[in-house]
Amino acid sequence: MSSDPAARAAELRRLIEFHLYRYHVLDDPEIPDSAYDALYDELQAFEHAHPQLVTPDSPTQRVGAPPAAGFTKVAHLLPMGSLEKVTTDDGLTKWADDVRKRLGTDEPVAYVVEPKIDGSAISLVYENGAFVRGATRGDGMRGEDVTANLRTVEAVPLRMLAVGNERPPALLEVRGEVYFPRSGFRRFNEAQAAAGKKEAPNARNAAAGSLRQLNPAITAERPLSVWIYGAGARTDGTGPDAHYAMLQWLRERGFRTNPRVERVESIEEVAAVVAGWEQGRDELDYEIDGVVIKVDSFDQQRRLGALHERPRWARAYKWAPMTATTTLLKIAVRVGRTGALNPWALLEPVEVGGVTVSRATLHNEEDINRKGIREGDRVIVQRAGDVIPQVVGAAGEHAPGTHEFRMPSHCPLCGVEIVKPEGEVKHHCPNRACPSRGLETLINWVSAAMDIEGVGEQFVRRLWDLGLLRSMPDLYRLRAERIGELEGYGEISAAKIVDAIELSKSQPFSRILFGLNIPDVGWITGRNLARHFGHIDRLLAASLDEIEECEGIGPDRAESIAEWFKDPENRSLVQELRDLGLRFETGEEDRPVEGRLTGQQFVITGTLTEYTRETATAALEGRGAKVSDSVSAKTTALIVGEEPGASKLKKAEKAGTPILTEADLRALLSDRP
Ligand code: IVH
Repeated sequence: MSSDPAARAAELRRLIEFHLYRYHVLDDPEIPDSAYDALYDELQAFEHAHPQLVTPDSPTQRVGAPPAAGFTKVAHLLPMGSLEKVTTDDGLTKWADDVRKRLGTDEPVAYVVEPKIDGSAISLVYENGAFVRGATRGDGMRGEDVTANLRTVEAVPLRMLAVGNERPPALLEVRGEVYFPRSGFRRFNEAQAAAGKKEAPNARNAAAGSLRQLNPAITAERPLSVWIYGAGARTDGTGPDAHYAMLQWLRERGFRTNPRVERVESIEEVAAVVAGWEQGRDELDYEIDGVVIKVDSFDQQRRLGALHERPRWARAYKWAPMTATTTLLKIAVRVGRTGALNPWALLEPVEVGGVTVSRATLHNEEDINRKGIREGDRVIVQRAGDVIPQVVGAAGEHAPGTHEFRMPSHCPLCGVEIVKPEGEVKHHCPNRACPSRGLETLINWVSAAMDIEGVGEQFVRRLWDLGLLRSMPDLYRLRAERIGELEGYGEISAAKIVDAIELSKSQPFSRILFGLNIPDVGWITGRNLARHFGHIDRLLAASLDEIEECEGIGPDRAESIAEWFKDPENRSLVQELRDLGLRFETGEEDRPVEGRLTGQQFVITGTLTEYTRETATAALEGRGAKVSDSVSAKTTALIVGEEPGASKLKKAEKAGTPILTEADLRALLSDRP
């Protein structure tokens, strides 16, 4: 350690820059956060004692500028163009043919394939290694000077990293995309909601909005990051003569380039890499709306040139967008199998990610009104994977004559007065005999619990309306002849349905326990009960205390389970299903497997967007982990989705249990190294 104050300050700065680089660019921190914080604190204290030693590029000076009145326009050193897009492999091949024709058919062409980041485009200018100006894209010729805000983004180096004795170039402009990591975006919106502020409809808007804050201190609070995807204007002779090598060169000098970028030597390989990106896009911690394919050689790029500021040497391969804007025609309410009132949106049909969407889930009254969505409004709809589409927010002002949504005061099915238990977000129909419960239990039974092929909600509703189906045993007594008489079914399809229903009798005990609609027994508790008791007879005979001994079952839940099994009607339902040949005994499927996550135990709370509870549980258990319903000392981490349960969160926070977001879960489940 140096005793000369100026030297020590310089040393601390160099260390801090190096560790920021390890953390943000290499994604491979060398020291724990606490050690980094200690270095930072030391520099800050040091600069406080020796103010003359503060330099503008000191890491402590990221948030320094006072709020501005507006942004100054700046002319870009070179125009910031845009990309021509293709949407099919065919379009890709046509482009490659054009490239080859222009360059000469014998000349080999290598391509670079990189993610098309769905954020906000930026230009960063470095003079003699120091960051001097950052700007938005604007109209491509002139953008807005957002230097003060970009300085607050830790992944933007304030100084280029020194490589050996190399002198930094007099001028280097790099270009990239500022974005909001998915995990941070989720947290940001939660905080907005908690503060009663408007949530951002998507991560791109949130990134663009954060970049254009007049007060840099606000930008500094947002967990923005940046991917650098290329060099712009630069002093002659700076860096290598091809794009892929340039990205490596930039990375070595402190810029956060994407490590998954690939260089390939044929257009066929390009197509394969593109397909891989599309497959894996949900697993990334940033949103991409496609990939960008660039001709690697700068010489070839120059010879190809551009047309209307769109380079002939690059294409954006864009996928169908996963969000769309449409009109919310009506907010309808459905009573679930537990009596909970679930609002859903009837939408003007719209295409989202290649699928026509006309319904979407809404969570509850509070959530609908916080998002500010009303019947008649234009709204933004989002789809992720195979999960039911969601309305994420309003797309503009309210339509005239609209009013805030209110839950019905009486059950739309049985007319009983609706209640909203203290501390809960959902309204409930308290009537245990409400027809909705029977119907929804059956729907849940055929789809989620028993997963009967060809038998879904529509089939159940139809037979329910005809009075042919009132309970689970009815299902197993359906005759093919009767189904065949229904319009739209023939002898063959009817026989198939009966076969599928018959086949479902061999589904594991845990699924049956879940499907019975015992209050508070979801997928996970069903599995735990099956494992613990092994046979229905033991469960039927169990005392309250014995039920409580089962993993993840507290006194309240034990009581509702015991009560359910005491009810003669429920006992006869169980008996009937046993007589019909369903499995009431634990088999191989219910036993734990060994895997990468063996020994770890997770709890999931709230709604996940890309997984259902079941798929997340199955994925974790398939890797050896245990999934339980309540937080305890044994819990490895709590996985938090939308609308998490307050008690689970509180318990986890109190116990210091790590909290994982859905993005963390995705990363945890990703089997890639
Ligand atoms: S190269 C001449 N590479 O997409 C333009 N752009 O239409 C060359 N973008 O707003 C741009 N990821 O900010 C390039 N890997 C990537 C990109 C990328 C996202 C954005 C870019 C611009 C738009 C181009």
